[in-house]
Amino acid sequence: MTMMGLLHSVALSTQFLLLFSSSLFTNCLTLNDSTSTHHHGCHPHENNALLSFKQSFIISKSASYNTFSYPKTVSWISTTDCCSWDGIECDELTGHVISIDLSSSLLYGSMDANSTLFSLVHLQCLDLSDNDFNHSQIPARIGHLSQLRHLNLSQVGETTLSGEVPTQISHLSNLLSLDLRSYIEQLDFPLINRLQLKESTLRSLIHNSTRLEHLRLNFVTISSSLPHTLTNLTSLQKLSFCQCELHGEFPIGIFSLANLTSLNFARNQYLQGTLPASIGNLTNLAYLALGYNSFHGEIPQSLFRLENLEFLSLSYNFFEGQLALDMFLKLKMLNVLGLSLNKLSLFSQNRTVNVTILPPIQLLELSRCNLNGEIPTWIMNLTTLNLLNLHHNNLQGEIPYFFFKLENLTLLNLAGNMLEGQIELDMLSKLQKLTYLGLGGGNKFYFLEGKNTSNVTFPSQIQYLDLSSSNLVHFPNFIQHLQELTDLFVSHNRIKTIPSWIWNKTTLQTLDISNNLLMGEISPLICNLQSLGGLDLSSNNLVGMIPSCLGRFGRFLRILNLAGNKLTGNIPQIYVKENVLRFIDFSPNKLYGQLPRALVNCRMLEFLDVSHNHFNDSFPFWLGSLPKLKVVSLCDNQFHGAIMCPLKYTFPQLRNIDLSQNGFETKLTSEIIMCFKSMIVSNKRQLDFKDMIYTGNTFIDINFFPFSMSNKGVVMDYLGGQYLRHMVAIDLSCNKIYGEIPDIMGSLNSLVVLNLSNNMLTGSIPSSLGKLSNLEVLDLSLNSLSGNIPQQLTELTFLSFFNVSFNNLSGPIPENGQLSTFDNNSFEGNKDLCGIQLLKKCENHPKLPLQKSDGDQDSGSESFFELYWMVILIGYGGGLVAGLALGNAFSVDVYRLLKKIF
Ligand SMILES: *[C@@H]1O[C@H](CO)[C@@H](O)[C@H](O)[C@H]1NC(C)=O
Ligand SMILES: *[C@@H]1O[C@H](CO)[C@@H](O)[C@H](O)[C@H]1NC(C)=O
Ligand SMILES: *[C@@H]1O[C@H](CO)[C@@H](O)[C@H](O)[C@H]1NC(C)=O
Ligand SMILES: *[C@@H]1O[C@H](CO)[C@@H](O)[C@H](O)[C@H]1NC(C)=O
Ligand SMILES: *[C@@H]1O[C@H](CO)[C@@H](O)[C@H](O)[C@H]1NC(C)=O
Ligand SMILES: *[C@@H]1O[C@H](CO)[C@@H](O)[C@H](O)[C@H]1NC(C)=O
Ligand SMILES: *[C@@H]1O[C@H](CO)[C@@H](O)[C@H](O)[C@H]1NC(C)=O
Ligand SMILES: *[C@@H]1O[C@H](CO)[C@@H](O)[C@H](O)[C@H]1NC(C)=O
Repeated sequence: MTMMGLLHSVALSTQFLLLFSSSLFTNCLTLNDSTSTHHHGCHPHENNALLSFKQSFIISKSASYNTFSYPKTVSWISTTDCCSWDGIECDELTGHVISIDLSSSLLYGSMDANSTLFSLVHLQCLDLSDNDFNHSQIPARIGHLSQLRHLNLSQVGETTLSGEVPTQISHLSNLLSLDLRSYIEQLDFPLINRLQLKESTLRSLIHNSTRLEHLRLNFVTISSSLPHTLTNLTSLQKLSFCQCELHGEFPIGIFSLANLTSLNFARNQYLQGTLPASIGNLTNLAYLALGYNSFHGEIPQSLFRLENLEFLSLSYNFFEGQLALDMFLKLKMLNVLGLSLNKLSLFSQNRTVNVTILPPIQLLELSRCNLNGEIPTWIMNLTTLNLLNLHHNNLQGEIPYFFFKLENLTLLNLAGNMLEGQIELDMLSKLQKLTYLGLGGGNKFYFLEGKNTSNVTFPSQIQYLDLSSSNLVHFPNFIQHLQELTDLFVSHNRIKTIPSWIWNKTTLQTLDISNNLLMGEISPLICNLQSLGGLDLSSNNLVGMIPSCLGRFGRFLRILNLAGNKLTGNIPQIYVKENVLRFIDFSPNKLYGQLPRALVNCRMLEFLDVSHNHFNDSFPFWLGSLPKLKVVSLCDNQFHGAIMCPLKYTFPQLRNIDLSQNGFETKLTSEIIMCFKSMIVSNKRQLDFKDMIYTGNTFIDINFFPFSMSNKGVVMDYLGGQYLRHMVAIDLSCNKIYGEIPDIMGSLNSLVVLNLSNNMLTGSIPSSLGKLSNLEVLDLSLNSLSGNIPQQLTELTFLSFFNVSFNNLSGPIPENGQLSTFDNNSFEGNKDLCGIQLLKKCENHPKLPLQKSDGDQDSGSESFFELYWMVILIGYGGGLVAGLALGNAFSVDVYRLLKKIF
């Protein structure tokens, strides 16, 4: 299976982030009336309170993100008047401290719940944004600062404030602005919200803080619908709730808040709504970000009257209707336009448009918009264009010459179209700012490199190059001259050899040559590429041993995919401490021996697939000490002996384990089941997997790699042997496991796939399995189970595959619920079983009327089968760069996205 080949590239660089994260750092305003002349020294107790606040932190260069950060508290010296200190402002009349601005002040340390800060009750403004409070919670005593008008606790980084926002925040009834945004820095992805805000707290806040003008809660988990009382906050100007897990109906009244300038509700996948015509009354609206939601309906004409609109992102929704180019002419300020993936019909009318008056668009995202024909000519007249994303349309023909006059382009993504023709490097090099170039995914370009290399100028600044699926038979030579190349995708071509110059490209961070015809051994020179974060050589014809240096290749490598080759020998032994490997896929190859115990040094490892090899080892319980390991597949090897996990080895994050087709010989005990207790979740949110791996400029959503699990029969046919590996799954099939299925199996409540088939299990099917309410696949076939099929299994409303064939089961097949949808194949080979599915009908059990169950095949059941096909159909791939930027967010949770599309 290809990795990056499939997932490809969400390129992103700091520049994009900063461009679109609207003014993260806001300082306290100057509160004093400058004409007042009274003077008053600092109150001693306030002086002391500030000093002890200062002392609770250290200055750390890495604590702030803003490049203009400096340690303001250095000027806080006890012998001077605190009112003169950097960041402090006092009331001219009373001398009380009324404003503290310590934004971007390099503070590192925990926020003390009893901090002296909270004794400064005259504070009107508190800005502590962009420091590192090391996962502290927001202290409840913040509610004591009842005079606060401005509160900014927004944070950047992995160590943002976390936990529950205290309800006391709603006591701040004088607030004009509240900013609790938490931004995870781009370097290490999982973009997980760390702050939570209870709906009741939000309601109280809205109830009490009626003067709010700015409310920014991006990346704060709210997990509810939006209170309609928000529309009571008539002074609102800026409202941002990006990625707050909002759902339900968007209160349409928000579009009547006349003073709005900025609305950002992007990335709330289940948030539904429509745009009312009254949106045209919001004459000050400059920023409208609704990407990655579930908005639907037509886009009202009145929107196109909003002359102040600068940012319009409606990508990844269900908007419909026709939009003509001339509708945009009045949006004279429009800088950013995103309309990707809706149900819109765009620009199909043949009206002539005066292209000299097109808006000054810098970022245009029209991917997956069903654009047909040639590249629209009006794009050439967008001379301000910076980022152009047209991937995955049906564009045909050549790239017009004048395209190369768009000299401000930094990103050009044309991947996944049907474009063709030659590309002259001379022309390409005219785009001197271009750093990201996506041409792959099915286009048929060829590169005119010039006869004499010395005459050719190369677009040497290109960092990201996608030439996947481009019909290449060798590496285009010009790549050699790209001195700054960091990410190279040439997957899905017919390349047979890797040119030796590639090993000199030490700037490379991502190298994807998967799905080609590479032959021979992997050169040990590969370890010259010391900056590599992602290496994908999967699905080729590589032979020989894995170069041993790869075991020492630890510093940046996060993804190592060598799957689908003919590699032999052992896995290299040494895995240095402090490596950052997260994803290792060695399946199918011809590797043998034991799994190197040194893999326990891969403390970041999340995914390990060694299936379909010849490993001969006992159960690697020691992997259970890896804190992040989520997926383990040992399928189809010669692992043997007992399955067990001694005390220390708890597999704390495990959600998918495949031990099938091995020689495990063990009694299925409760202890074994408890090795998988991480599959018991109390909160569905824990199942929201957001794993992005960063490899240079590229983010890769590892949940998107199909993970193969063995199976047989229908599931195999249906899925082509692939499961989406974010499914919570246990597969122990085809071993020699005996004993009874312990009751406790029914407590692994997040299980979606349970396969115990082809073992030696005895006893009855525990009725507790009926509690596995997420179960979609249950295979118990080919065992020696006896007794009845428990009635409780009819409660498994999501079951799409069920097989208990070839056991010793008896009695009637429960006739109601989901079980009635399976045919003979699911039940055959149990000679005492009876039911309508079988030849043997039940005599003593008159038919019960068929009960309609809740999950009655409604379209919302979204089984993962369908999802799987969705992945195939959409052919996910190609950069989503601007998608990210437009969503004002930094990752794309493709899984949820696909679910939505479905
Ligand atoms: C804060 O102070 C209160 C009493 O004033 C005390 O009970 C509490 O333990 C203190 N909390 C912390 C975290 O110091
Ligand atoms: C409003 O604020 C006051 C304190 O200012 C507090 O006592 C009250 O509980 C708050 N109301 C709500 C609904 O939170
Ligand atoms: C908010 O508005 C609703 C009507 O839209 C009204 O019933 C309610 O009293 C208002 N709440 C506050 C706190 O003003
Ligand atoms: C809206 O803004 C105007 C101009 O700034 C201001 O006069 C008015 O009071 C504001 N409306 C509300 C409801 O705050
Ligand atoms: C707002 O817009 C709607 C529809 O465009 C219009 O009927 C209404 O009069 C407008 N309301 C205000 C207050 O301008
Ligand atoms: C638009 O123009 C194209 C070619 O110029 C033509 O084939 C098509 O029929 C026209 N469509 C309409 C709706 O006029
Ligand atoms: C296009 O717009 C420009 C600027 O308003 C104007 O000068 C020009 O005459 C227009 N061209 C046409 C063909 O209408
Ligand atoms: C639009 O762009 C094309 C190609 O660059 C150019 O030939 C044409 O003059 C431009 N039109 C206007 C009105 O600027």
